[in-house]
Amino acid sequence: MKNMFSTHQTTQAIQKTLKDVPTLKSFPLIGHTYLFLPGGKYKSERLTEAVKDISKNLGPIFKLNLGGANLLITTDANQTRTLFRSEGLRPIRPPFPALYYYRKKTFNSVGVVPGNGEEWHKFRSGVIPLLGTTLMQSYAERQEDVADSFISYLRTARNKDGVLEDAMEHLLLFAIEAISVVCPGHRFNCLSQNDSQASDIVTASKDFMVGMYETFIGPPLWKLFKTSGYKKLESSHQIIYRVMKGHLETIKQQYETNPEAVKYEQKYMYSLLNNKKLSEEDIVMLSMEVFLGGIDTTATTLAMTLYYLAQDREIQDKARSDAETEDLKYLRACIKETLRMAPTAGANSRILVEDTTLGDYLIPKNTLVLAFSSVTSSDDQYFKNASHYYPDRWMRTNNEEFHKFASLPFGYGPRMCPGKKLVENEFVILLKKILLNFELELVGKADVGMVYRMNRIPDKPISIKFVNTNH
Ligand code: HEM
Repeated sequence: MKNMFSTHQTTQAIQKTLKDVPTLKSFPLIGHTYLFLPGGKYKSERLTEAVKDISKNLGPIFKLNLGGANLLITTDANQTRTLFRSEGLRPIRPPFPALYYYRKKTFNSVGVVPGNGEEWHKFRSGVIPLLGTTLMQSYAERQEDVADSFISYLRTARNKDGVLEDAMEHLLLFAIEAISVVCPGHRFNCLSQNDSQASDIVTASKDFMVGMYETFIGPPLWKLFKTSGYKKLESSHQIIYRVMKGHLETIKQQYETNPEAVKYEQKYMYSLLNNKKLSEEDIVMLSMEVFLGGIDTTATTLAMTLYYLAQDREIQDKARSDAETEDLKYLRACIKETLRMAPTAGANSRILVEDTTLGDYLIPKNTLVLAFSSVTSSDDQYFKNASHYYPDRWMRTNNEEFHKFASLPFGYGPRMCPGKKLVENEFVILLKKILLNFELELVGKADVGMVYRMNRIPDKPISIKFVNTNH
């Protein structure tokens, strides 16, 4: 009996905790921020590379103090699994305090992105319908139309040598037009180049991402005065709000006079208008989030996919052959591979809702944990030859088994990205058309990486020659 007791005591004594997690030298007040200041070892817009480098020395779990916040970072897929499996039904993501503050005071409504707890749960009910297969299919024809418009646009936007310079900028127009048919259910004509509202929206969408990022990183000076980041967030929000509100008024009138027509034509907007938990302002906030959620992320994923395909003729030809088939399995594998190598989110973050054991450490409730998926998914430990773009690894015929938590480009669990299905469909529809109409040649020897602009985007312009095929 005595023996058992002392064994128990020994086990207790060796339990490592948060304070034992490795870290780097830090300084009072600034913590580890010095590493990211001008002249420092790392750059904040290259956080993924910094995390990769630090984990080489400290191992797969370590802590940093950045911008006043204590972060626990893991690059380990098993620990990521534990994190998500213990997140509960109301996962807590660190809020975007500036956006939360601005919306709460101006509209008394925060939306699904910055919200948490019961507030988040209410808003989540407004985005869940996006994951429905019937809803997704109801937009397929309109997605085809937008993709056709992009093909026509591409033919005229190429320079005299057939090169589309800085593809990302053009794909942003596609992304905005593509999401607009779903939300707000009014098609912005970004690709026909004569819609002034569309060009305001393009500028405001970019400013919004910059404003979000500038108010998110670094100390919250916006609480004291309107910083340039806060002003950008506020003014872009005002523009997008006005446009969304205008279209919502129109669709609301249709809903009041002929709900069945809206139900048939605009399944997503119908689900929002019909959701009794949501106030009018809640619906505007959600519309803005669904609209904005898919812009940078969509354009980036498409730009990077075209970049990888233009770089490798063999893979491109295989994708083109697949584009002639019905199920488009290889094209889907290409998208997965792009999202593995170039995920738009650097990390998936959660605040622990209970004490949780991650690796050797018992981590207390309320700790902010970042599962750095952009590092994990490019690690040879999880994917053979990880730096090689190899869509075949995702095909059924391939026998390689993957850790299910090694590549999580859309997050995981009750808070995972609600746009996943819709956007995956949008990707294959456009890629199919591009590959059947053009052969792609990369211009220059650009070695494209990624930088943070809230989401991660290509770090340099991607220019591609689009040569007409005979299809
Ligand atoms: C390649 C395209 C996209 C990627 C890679 C992506 C990725 C993500 C990720 C990683 C999250 C966080 C998930 C988590 O915390 O577990 C997220 C959340 C979200 N995404 Fe996406 N997304 C994409 C497109 C879209 C689209 C098209 C929409 C709108 C239709 C959208 C709307 C949202 C919203 C509203 C959230 C917040 C969900 C919540 O907090 O409950 N996303 N997305």
